[in-house]
Amino acid sequence: MINIAIDGPSGAGKSSAARLAAAKLGYVYVDTGAMYRAIGVAALRREIDTLDKDRVLAMLPELDISLTFIDGEQHVMLNGEDVSKAIRLPEASMAASNVSAMPEVRAYLLDLQHKLAAENNCLMDGRDIGTVILPNAQLKIFLTASAEIRAKRRYDELIARGTPVDYDQLLQEIIQRDYNDSHRETAPLKPAEDAVLLDSSDLTLEEMVDRIVGMAQAAAAKEA
Ligand code: DC
Repeated sequence: MINIAIDGPSGAGKSSAARLAAAKLGYVYVDTGAMYRAIGVAALRREIDTLDKDRVLAMLPELDISLTFIDGEQHVMLNGEDVSKAIRLPEASMAASNVSAMPEVRAYLLDLQHKLAAENNCLMDGRDIGTVILPNAQLKIFLTASAEIRAKRRYDELIARGTPVDYDQLLQEIIQRDYNDSHRETAPLKPAEDAVLLDSSDLTLEEMVDRIVGMAQAAAAKEA
């Protein structure tokens, strides 16, 4: 199987670019952030403080998280319910960041991530895919962009979906999440040594997709 890891901070354009690139390549797109978000949403719904590790971990055995693919689109299922929309609400972002700092939560999702990679040619996006989850991926890309550009992109995305948001608050949240994600002890956000760095600040979505597809095709040709 061809496995491509795409890591980077929130809002660097990973999901949009990876989804389109996967469609062009005919690969499955796996958004691992959505899995952490599903756990965050499960906690919020139970009114569990997402920093309360004991309570978050006690909840895990009650959860059944899976991904289904409908017309190539990933849908996240939480105990049989499609939570693909709920996980995109702004409060789900911080909840996901909080639970993702817990090593037990990461271990809980590892099997699901490995299974998807073993069974599919896939493009998997996250924070630790190249460093921890798929160290043998044929291609690793680390996608970045400035915090301001990322906040603007997230702002446009949420407004387009009809979710009212405040730009400054989004920017602060992005800065806070970057800090959390790159300073945690377990699987901190950092490029793998063999990752290709791609700064998307001045690239259009199309340009990002073209670069990813080009690199993926080269990696797949090398493997063949
Ligand atoms: O990519 P995202 O914004 O949907 O991710 C939500 C949170 O989950 C984010 O704070 C980082 C965390 N995450 C992680 O720790 N490891 C991953 N592989 C993917 C996401």
